[in-house]
Amino acid sequence: MNKLNIGFIGGGNMAEALIAGLTAAGHGAAHVHVTDISQARLDTLHQQYGVTCYGDIARLALSSDVLVLAVKPQQIDEVLGKLGAIDGGQTVISIAAGISTARIAGKLGEKAAVVRVMPNTPCLLGAGMSVLFSKADKIHRQRAEYVLAASGQTAWIDEEQQMHAVTAVSGSGPAYFFLLAELMQATGQALGLPRELCEQLVGQTALGSARMLLESGKSAELLRQQVTSPGGTTQAALEAMFEGQLPETVRNALSAAAKRSRELA
Ligand SMILES: NC(=O)c1ccc[n+]([C@@H]2O[C@H](COP(=O)([O-])OP(=O)(O)OC[C@H]3O[C@@H](n4cnc5c(N)ncnc54)[C@H](OP(=O)(O)O)[C@@H]3O)[C@@H](O)[C@H]2O)c1
Repeated sequence: MNKLNIGFIGGGNMAEALIAGLTAAGHGAAHVHVTDISQARLDTLHQQYGVTCYGDIARLALSSDVLVLAVKPQQIDEVLGKLGAIDGGQTVISIAAGISTARIAGKLGEKAAVVRVMPNTPCLLGAGMSVLFSKADKIHRQRAEYVLAASGQTAWIDEEQQMHAVTAVSGSGPAYFFLLAELMQATGQALGLPRELCEQLVGQTALGSARMLLESGKSAELLRQQVTSPGGTTQAALEAMFEGQLPETVRNALSAAAKRSRELA
């Protein structure tokens, strides 16, 4: 796999996260190709990762076994128009939110092997969560798995419709944790702690809690109960959260994200 020519169309934040993951995992930089509207962006990516840069989509497509569509959803039609028909040997990975595999295949031809992916921003640190969907042959699914696994964990869904819920949970999810972190940091300061200490306390608490969720084998509910002594400080805080309708707020928030994802599609 590390000799596959992987071509990124769009060299923005997400593309850079995936390129960083691939090159760190030992994928030869000479086999990573990128095109972007901005020459300055291409120069930066070349300097930082040693990737090969192309001035136009058609030339990049000719030299790539795998094409990664990494532009904004509103830019995807223009890119698909420039790509034209694709032969069945190439794998097309789209990370564009809300763009269906049928819409992409409709523009690239029936033979196009399309894999749709919803990554998230922790891919930047190799700690991403990417969810994949495809009806293409195993070889194409394996190639997509290879590209995304370099930046974090992967999971597959069987129904493309589930991508809306995935977007609501893990695609947008980092922002929910960041909001909670902001609020906890600000309140820590209001309670008299210095800003740097609040940032450390909240960041390390988030990291430790995430590791317990992933590594303890215990449910979130059980872990919560285990830090909540009857009549103690945690119980006082959680009671305030329930009184403030936090469960309902979270349900409404994720439902709104899923609804917006369906609207954008
Ligand atoms: N960021 C996230 O959390 C996240 C999570 C899941 C999925 N995604 C998806 O990932 C995709 C990329 O997001 P991003 O945050 O990386 O966006 P981004 O930083 O804006 O990157 C897109 C890049 O593609 C360039 N571009 C636009 N049109 C092009 C064209 N015709 N040919 C070549 N390059 C072109 C853009 O240039 P200009 O800036 O000049 O337009 C930009 O540099 C989106 O579709 C998004 O839905 C993002």
